[in-house]
This record gives sequence, structure tokens and C-alpha cells, in this order.
Amino acid sequence: MSTSSVYRVAFIGCGKRAHEHAVGVQADSRCKVVALSDISASSAEALNGEFGFDAKIFTDHKKMLAEEKPDVVIICLWTPLHLPVFRDCAEAGVKAVLSEKPMSATWGECREMARISEEKGCQLTFSLQRRFAKGNQTVRRLIKEGKIGQVLRMDLYSPPNMLDCGIHTLDQGMSFIGESPAKWVLGAVDTTETHNWFNVPSECGATGRIVFRNGVQAFLQSGAIDTWEPTPSKTDIWAGVRVIGSEGFIEVMWDGQIVGGINYADPSWKPEMELTSSDEQMKGYIRHTIDCLATGEEPEVSYQKALRASEIIFAFYESVRRNARVELPLTGVTDNPFIAMLENGQFAAQTIK
Ligand SMILES: NC(=O)c1ccc[n+]([C@@H]2O[C@H](COP(=O)([O-])OP(=O)(O)OC[C@H]3O[C@@H](n4cnc5c(N)ncnc54)[C@H](O)[C@@H]3O)[C@@H](O)[C@H]2O)c1
Repeated sequence: MSTSSVYRVAFIGCGKRAHEHAVGVQADSRCKVVALSDISASSAEALNGEFGFDAKIFTDHKKMLAEEKPDVVIICLWTPLHLPVFRDCAEAGVKAVLSEKPMSATWGECREMARISEEKGCQLTFSLQRRFAKGNQTVRRLIKEGKIGQVLRMDLYSPPNMLDCGIHTLDQGMSFIGESPAKWVLGAVDTTETHNWFNVPSECGATGRIVFRNGVQAFLQSGAIDTWEPTPSKTDIWAGVRVIGSEGFIEVMWDGQIVGGINYADPSWKPEMELTSSDEQMKGYIRHTIDCLATGEEPEVSYQKALRASEIIFAFYESVRRNARVELPLTGVTDNPFIAMLENGQFAAQTIK
């Protein structure tokens, strides 16, 4: 297809995130929204009304796929539904699926999504839209230009959940080091409380170490226990990355807000700071993904990148199970080790929130 083609677009899942994707879709004249599918017809109708899509409403996505034959599907469903609904789309001949993150609840399912994408030739991307925030792009450029010298270390900060929130921080960190895969991972989880995030159980905090194949060492902290006291102003980066180089460092929040930067040889230097709204991030994500559908290039938010970040997350959980660092590629694991340990009663989990 040429870059001027108009694509028939459908949404499956019309809740909160779908409204955010819709901003990006509406801004791209190559996208014509033809169908909205949600088990709650009123949610689909609300999305239709707000954006004036004039799309057909379905409560059964398989019926929608068969009748409307969309080129592009945006999946905005809770995590355990990502794989089965992606499979239905790929089998129905959909050309591109833009799925919400995280990939899936188990490592085996993540790999299955990748396999299906290859087998069916269906472009699969994940909504790691923060790659399109200008501040994150600026940090990537400054690192490439050598402004902080050779990257030696990263401090990775994530809200209290490796699978659901950690994927954003890991993705951000990996984008700063040329997408280097990890070599090994060592992790610990806090199960003082356990949570349920989009139907996947998780810890309330985690800490660990990741060594990347390019030699960069990363220390990871997730959860905000004791970081808000005695006052919130003392809080360290709550979600984002500190990239430490041989000649300076840069601190950036996950939405690309650059907190600060130091060049040891040039104390007057300040990185330029430019904020990108979440609407603009979503517009960038949709535009780029549709561009790549037309050109066949690997998207910035490809499943290959999401898979590398997911592998770190499952290796992290596996290292808790083994009480040892876990070398990548991750082999002999198909489950979610955190869920397996939780179900085995290995954690003295008190409350589910
Ligand atoms: N990329 C990000 O920054 C970001 C931020 C928040 C959430 N998320 C992810 O987005 C995903 C969705 O979150 P949300 O906040 O939009 O959830 P939501 O609950 O607001 O929306 C989900 C929608 O799916 C519908 N639904 C449920 N089962 C369905 C089915 N079988 N078929 C069709 N529709 C069905 C529900 O009725 C609901 O309207 C989650 O996986 C979450 O991790 C991503």
C-alpha cells in the first residue's frame, strides 16, 4: 500500500485507553474508523459519540472482524485478553494490530504473540507511546552526541509493578542505550501487599540489577515505599531514568520531562527541556505506526522491543524463584514466575488491593 492509502480501523475495547488512542487516530487522515467493539455497547457508543467516528458498533469482536474486515485493529483490553484477541485479529487477516501494553501475563504468551505476528505477517506494536515524547527523543540524541560521555549506568524508577508499569521504564532505559539486550537480571519483590493490575497479580514493589550486553549496569527501583516521607518534595524520580555517563548525567521522567543534566566539564550546560502532552505522544505513536505499515519498516514500538523488555521482567521474577541471577535469553520458563510463586503460597501475601 502507498503512504496515501486509507486504512479501515477498528477498536476492540472502548474504555479509558481507547479514548486516548482515538485522539491519535482522529488526527491521522489515513485512518477511517469503521467499527468499535466492546462487550459494553454503551462504552463503544460513548467513544463513537465523543469522536464522531460514525462507526458500526459490535459487542462481539469476532463478528466485527468477519463483517468489517478492518486493516488495522487497536486493542485496548485488560492484559489477559491481549494474546487471544490478537490471535483472532491475525487469523482474520488484519494487517496491523496496535495493542495496549504489557504484552501478556506470561512469558510463553508473549512469545506466542511474537510467533503469530511472524507467521501471519501481521505488524504488531505495543503502546509504549512515551518513545514519542520530545524529551525522551532529546535524551537519546544527547547521548548519541556524547554529551554525557560513555553511558556506564542507569537508575531505573518505576511505579509499583514490574509487568504493567515497569515495561515503560525498561523500554525507556533500553531506548537510551541503543536497544541493547540484557545479559543477566537479579531481582527481589516486595509482597507485603499484592495488587491486581488489569487482572494480573503483582507485587507492591521491587528492586534489582540488570546488566546489559553492552556493559551498562542498571539498578531498578519500583514502588514508592518510604520515598514520599517526610515530604513529597523529597521524592526521587518516581518514574523515569537517570542515565549516568563517564562525563555527566541526565535525569528524565518517563513522560520525557527532563529533570536535569550535568556535564562535568561544562557546568553552564543545561539540556533543553520540552514537554510533550500525552495527546501528542499518542498522535506520534499512531502516525509512526501507520507510516511503518506503509513502508514495512520495523516500528519504534515493535513487538521485538516489547519482547526484550518483557524478557527482563520475566527473568526478574524467575531470579526471585531461583534466588540467583538469571542469564538471558530466558529459557526453561513459560509461565509468570510471580503468579506461580503466589499461587504456591511462597509469599506470605496479606492483602490483595
Ligand atoms: N500505555 C499506557 O500508558 C497505559 C496506561 C494505562 C493502561 N494501559 C493498559 O491499557 C489496557 C486497558 O486499560 P483501560 O484503562 O483502557 O481499561 P478499561 O477498563 O477502561 O477499558 C477496557 C474496556 O474493555 C472492555 N472489554 C472487556 N472485555 C472485553 C472483551 N472480551 N471484548 C471487548 N471489550 C471488552 C470493557 O468493557 C472496557 O470498556 C490495560 O492492559 C492497561 O495495562 C496502558
